[in-house]
Amino acid sequence: MIQVNELKKEYIQKGQMITAVNSISFEVEKGEFFSLLGPNGAGKTTTISILSTILSPTSGNVLINKINVEEDPHKIRQHIGVIFQDPSLDDRLSAQENMDFHGRLYGMSPADRLRRSELLLKMVDLWDRKNSLVRTFSGGMKRRLEIARGLMHRPLLLILDEPTIGLDPKSRRDIWHYIHEARKEWGMTILLTTHYLEEADGADRVAIMNKGKIVAMDTPSKLKQSLGPGLVTLEIPPDKMDQVKNTLLTFYDVRHFSLETESTLKFPMPSSVSSPAVFLQSLPPVLTGFSVGTPTLDDVFISLTGDQQSINI
Ligand SMILES: Nc1ncnc2c1ncn2[C@@H]1O[C@H](COP(=O)(O)OP(=O)(O)O)[C@@H](O)[C@H]1O
Ligand SMILES: [Mg+2]
Repeated sequence: MIQVNELKKEYIQKGQMITAVNSISFEVEKGEFFSLLGPNGAGKTTTISILSTILSPTSGNVLINKINVEEDPHKIRQHIGVIFQDPSLDDRLSAQENMDFHGRLYGMSPADRLRRSELLLKMVDLWDRKNSLVRTFSGGMKRRLEIARGLMHRPLLLILDEPTIGLDPKSRRDIWHYIHEARKEWGMTILLTTHYLEEADGADRVAIMNKGKIVAMDTPSKLKQSLGPGLVTLEIPPDKMDQVKNTLLTFYDVRHFSLETESTLKFPMPSSVSSPAVFLQSLPPVLTGFSVGTPTLDDVFISLTGDQQSINI
């Protein structure tokens, strides 16, 4: 469905050149749910702006459904639905009017527009508010309406740029429910950008982006497995911290910690360790806590980028 080849985008900002997207390549299959995961400034919005024909690349190319986005942007727009990071509804129109207007832009017949908008407004629980002006809607209602509108013309590819940012957990769950319903109905492909790890965890594959580059790309479970048998968390009295760190460095060559506080260390289980019990016995007898957990995508991200800061904000 999507082929991205050596895509690059440079911006000039205050006389300085910024490489927002630095020669990335990836492919997304038809029907796949693919996520670009990365912190602010990683280049996610720039990438999908090129995919949705809003920006042109500095170099490289993008094919959607085998069509080059630069050669036939009009055709591309017929195939895709886009839900932008910033809302783009018309506040002065009602919910139904926003849906209808979108259907007209896509050349849908009046009967089809009516049918689709009823079905979709019901799906996102806005049918009883169909005649209310959008400016009277809460943030969550607006988001739901944007999703319904994005699905109006049955796009083959739905592109979502941080769609649930700032929403409460219930609205986030609801929105995912609607998207998955639509996905089942016509085998829609989904490209999501997010910095919420639990959202990326639901994807078939994830590309982790950092500073314009893709630093890893795989299924969420394979990405987590790549960290090895588990993540160790040690609780240590602060005055014994140096002693424990010294042992880890000397015997296991552990130098990097994904979480380091005054009393906690977190790091991938060293590969030379035969069992957690043996590992525990080899550490100074000062620990107040020891656990081995399954790595999360957060841990994968930190180990790949060396970034101490969690991206799950
Ligand atoms: N229109 C623009 N002009 C100049 N720089 C930009 C523009 N848009 C984005 N950037 C810069 O490009 C980089 C990537 O931004 P963006 O694609 O928005 O990342 P993300 O969506 O992952 O937060 C950032 O350093 C950002 O400041
Ligand atoms: Mg963005």
